[in-house]
Amino acid sequence: MEANLPKRKETRKSLRIKVISMGNAEVGKSCIIKRYCEKRFVPKYLATIGIDYGVTKVQIRDREIKVNIFDMAGHPFFYEVRNEFYKDTQGVVLVYDVGQKESFDALDAWMAEMKQELGPHGNMENIVFVVCANKIDCTKHRCVDESEGRLWAESRGFLYFETSAQTGEGINEMFQTFYSAIVELCDNGGKRPTSSMSVGFTKEQADTIRRIRNSKDSWDMLGVKPGATRDEVNKAYRKLAVLLHPDKCVAPGSEDAFKAVVNARTALLKNIK
Ligand code: GTP
Ligand code: MG
Repeated sequence: MEANLPKRKETRKSLRIKVISMGNAEVGKSCIIKRYCEKRFVPKYLATIGIDYGVTKVQIRDREIKVNIFDMAGHPFFYEVRNEFYKDTQGVVLVYDVGQKESFDALDAWMAEMKQELGPHGNMENIVFVVCANKIDCTKHRCVDESEGRLWAESRGFLYFETSAQTGEGINEMFQTFYSAIVELCDNGGKRPTSSMSVGFTKEQADTIRRIRNSKDSWDMLGVKPGATRDEVNKAYRKLAVLLHPDKCVAPGSEDAFKAVVNARTALLKNIK
């Protein structure tokens, strides 16, 4: 009788995946991987020469995942070596240093390099990206704040984590969530599930927050010409308030952007008769 009973737990096929690391030199890509795989941190900088390859096994729920990690060198000098490794990737760990604005600004260039190497038939939509805002232990030097990084990542449908390879903060959570998302992608026939693509805010909201952050003065922030009338200022303010009101907008940084717009309007109206 017992022989006819269904097996209690069906062991699912193990999975093989390929992940790569991307980001400027010295942002901490190798250290993040080392912290997760070897539970240690090396303070001395040992630049990756071209590419480092490693295999690791991880358990995601009841699944054993074999991960092939290609840790890329961030230095431009190694472009010719790393460019062959972009293909057939399921996941990307995209890293910047929160104390180095340049490394954050370079994220777009890294995306462009990958896109170029994948060629016209490559599909970036079906790759899981996790953005690591690394070195959060260096609080004194921080110049890219959480909402700025989160906005960049989430407006693209990417995961976002604050990490420190030095203290280990955020590293396990980041890899667990990252690998779970890749398993979900593989179970979904290699396509990013639509649920993970809906970001909860619009491109217009994300672009507006970015524009407000980068505006040079209150006129610029409201998007009106210097010398604009009260009516023009109020009209521009109302438009932005509707777009960014914290009750309506869940984009990272919307609350600060909303406050900045309120202050800009107050400052401008004070000086307009
Ligand atoms: P390339 O291989 O040249 O592309 O650099 P990488 O991005 O792999 O950087 P790596 O991991 O080698 O780290 C660069 C330097 O930053 C090393 O001196 C590390 O010790 C240091 N570092 C990495 N992560 C952290 C961190 O979270 N906090 C602090 N304080 N230092 C870190
Ligand atoms: Mg490295």
